[in-house]
Amino acid sequence: MSIKLNYSKISTNNSSSLVLFCDEKYRTNGLKKYLSNTEFSYINDISKTIDTKRNLHIFEINSKKKILLISIKKNLKNSEVENLGAEFFKIIKNINKNEYTVISDSIISNNKSFLGYFLHGLKLKSYEFKKYKTKKEKKIILINIAGNKNKPSSQEQLKFKALEEGTFYARDLVSEPGNILHPDEYAKRLSSLKKDGLKVTIYDEKKLKQLGMYSLLGVGQGSIRGSYLVTMEWNGAKNNSNPLAFVGKGVCFDTGGYSLKPAKFMEDMTYDMAGSATVVGLMKNFALRKAKINAVGVVGLVENMVSGNAQRPGDIVKSYSGKTIEILNTDAEGRLVLADALTFTEKKFKPRFIVDLATLTGAIIVSLGSEYAGLFSNDDKLSKEIFNAGEKVEEKVWRMPLHKNYDKLMNSKNADVQNINYVGGAGSTTAAQFLQRFILNKTPWAHLDIAGMAFSKYGGALNSGGATGFGVRLLNQLVEENYE
Ligand code: BES
Ligand code: MN
Ligand code: ZN
Repeated sequence: MSIKLNYSKISTNNSSSLVLFCDEKYRTNGLKKYLSNTEFSYINDISKTIDTKRNLHIFEINSKKKILLISIKKNLKNSEVENLGAEFFKIIKNINKNEYTVISDSIISNNKSFLGYFLHGLKLKSYEFKKYKTKKEKKIILINIAGNKNKPSSQEQLKFKALEEGTFYARDLVSEPGNILHPDEYAKRLSSLKKDGLKVTIYDEKKLKQLGMYSLLGVGQGSIRGSYLVTMEWNGAKNNSNPLAFVGKGVCFDTGGYSLKPAKFMEDMTYDMAGSATVVGLMKNFALRKAKINAVGVVGLVENMVSGNAQRPGDIVKSYSGKTIEILNTDAEGRLVLADALTFTEKKFKPRFIVDLATLTGAIIVSLGSEYAGLFSNDDKLSKEIFNAGEKVEEKVWRMPLHKNYDKLMNSKNADVQNINYVGGAGSTTAAQFLQRFILNKTPWAHLDIAGMAFSKYGGALNSGGATGFGVRLLNQLVEENYE
């Protein structure tokens, strides 16, 4: 099922159901002008006995026509308006109607962008991934926005659409299974983002060897697919200021390698590239809405497999930073990919900050479940900005500690650093401490562990289950509010 919005059409046909808005007490006097006399008196009568706790009521006018009445509370926050739009979607999904006309003039809200956020929430909730169902459901729900007032400006429409497309692109990538979206295919798809105006550079194995990225390469060496680092640049600022950098873990499938995962934990590992998908979706969004910033997205694409050529526990590799790493556990692979990606990003782009995203540890799910992403950072200002952005768009983050005492746990006897803490405990923090060692020049840096957020088994406020695209809206908000 998909949703099509249509802003141009003014008059409505009779098979179209109406969507009207009223205040939280269900006072319907103002709606007279949009209805026939019988319709109005019918609604007006019932509305006096209505359960005002519910936001939405459906009136059956006749077999063809329904009127949906939505009550708007005072002082709704943007995220609450989005949630209302999502609730609206849940209702119309189960009604056998293909066309609705929203009367924008009937909106009474002190939120100036009410309709924009309402439709944004509706759209986000309506996403589904049905590519591999052979029986195609072709239902399209058309939503006409009729009226002269309260419509989102074309600028707002563009922004919402870019954010939806960026989020959906991220969700599409995460939803693809490992046999389809392996690193070769992923790199190819990223190359197609050039058409949106991004400068895409693909570093294949040959180039990565020349650069000395053996930490990243080691993870992918057991795969028959290639390993890649891909950069996507967006230059939308008038000046050539240093970019904002976003780095993502793109492990297309994580078997654990020789430190093999048990079946129950392995089956989910198609979404182990979600951090990279968020970065890609975010960059696409910047390009689509022509954001007035300079930004770069960097993703490391690998597949963590077992084979005669796969990495072993005990192997020692040299990273791009020059530091040597002892691989004690081949399942702690995300940090190995990010290590090289982070140092490379810092050195090549000299960014104003680096935010990385990764489905890095199962331990963050133990700590925070599926409510908050873990935030680890060397910078209080950046942390606060991300936290506040998260509150606004309801993609929440919770700051977790970094400390030199945890850092010590990652020292190796045989190399400069080891990839797990064999003392045990604080699994998400020690992973973040590992990453921090590969930020060499004190660049403000934040690491988001999104293992609990990238995929939703039961669905959330703005998704219907499956890939969430977590982080696209969060980081877009961070940028828009503080850097644009
Ligand atoms: N991709 C996993 C983390 C993960 C777990 C993501 C569950 C999403 C859901 C990561 O590569 C991993 O295997 N981490 C290990 C680290 C350990 C070996 C130190 C983990 O969390 O068990
Ligand atoms: Mn792993
Ligand atoms: Zn992993």
